Amino acid sequence: MPVPQIVTVVGAGLMGRGIAYVAAVSGSAVRLVDLSEAQLMSALDRIGDDLDVGVQRGKIDAEVAEQARQRIATSTDIAEGATGADLVIEAVVERMDVKHDVFRLAEANAAPDAVLATNTSAMSITEIVSCLDDPSRGVGMHFFNPVPKMKLCELIRGLQTSPETMDRAEAAAQAMGKQTVRVEDLPGFATSRINALIGNEGMRMLEEGVASAEDIDTAVRLGLNHPMGPLEMGDLVGWDTRLDILEYLAGTLGERFRPTNLHRRMVAAGHLGRKSGEGVHRYDDQGNRLSRPR
Ligand SMILES: NC(=O)c1ccc[n+]([C@@H]2O[C@H](COP(=O)([O-])OP(=O)(O)OC[C@H]3O[C@@H](n4cnc5c(N)ncnc54)[C@H](O)[C@@H]3O)[C@@H](O)[C@H]2O)c1
Repeated sequence: MPVPQIVTVVGAGLMGRGIAYVAAVSGSAVRLVDLSEAQLMSALDRIGDDLDVGVQRGKIDAEVAEQARQRIATSTDIAEGATGADLVIEAVVERMDVKHDVFRLAEANAAPDAVLATNTSAMSITEIVSCLDDPSRGVGMHFFNPVPKMKLCELIRGLQTSPETMDRAEAAAQAMGKQTVRVEDLPGFATSRINALIGNEGMRMLEEGVASAEDIDTAVRLGLNHPMGPLEMGDLVGWDTRLDILEYLAGTLGERFRPTNLHRRMVAAGHLGRKSGEGVHRYDDQGNRLSRPR
């Protein structure tokens, strides 16, 4: 697949807006779809800010950034947004029923040979695309947060994914500047499985009082040479999304992924991480970490 002409991204949260960014910069016309105008406007603002930062840091040309801005259209209607798309990437919440609804509408409205991709972190690609009339066109394209910066796109082959779909998804990811790996359809793939386990252990250590959150993160960054500690990583991912991932992995891979009570209470309290301004750590409105509690 050369650069797809029309890429529809369903879900304009943390991941969807990043995927829209890289697709638009690579030259595709992008249709960004979410449930509300407010969410779409907020995503467009964030994409605009990210493009500005990209230009300031010399990562992208000012003209490319301006063209990318103009290539992104928005819609609150999946059918409208997917019409004629040759690649649809869903990045809605990590729930099987919601993903099925999105995929059915995407298949009914996209181009007849469109690749239909999910950005799920952990769930079975085979099960997600089982709702399609033609599951051979369904595939996992797992991007990482923040999408403009992270180099990997994990490609996941469902049981019925065709070789042509894998090749087209790979070419599209590479056109968006990503390095790809091909992974079989097992829960959590090659990345989330490890990341969720480390993050869950970090949360368990916090719950047990092993050390302060700050010190757990510092220990893992400086002692183990991880770029981020497990708790600041959870703040970046979003503890609500991480909870959905862990519950799925606990159900499929076993008890070691069972989320902690502290984690459940944080989500119930709305302490979701950077996106809500408070998770394990606290953040200002620009997402910068506050050194002291607010
Ligand atoms: N957060 C991460 O670090 C990360 C990394 C890789 C993959 N993922 C995966 O990406 C997906 C999205 O995660 P996120 O962190 O962007 O979540 P998010 O909560 O930031 O965004 C989800 C968006 O989907 C929208 N949405 C929900 N139902 C919808 C529907 N029916 N139609 C259109 N839009 C709908 C919501 O309004 C919201 O804006 C999940 O499957 C998640 O597992 C997340």
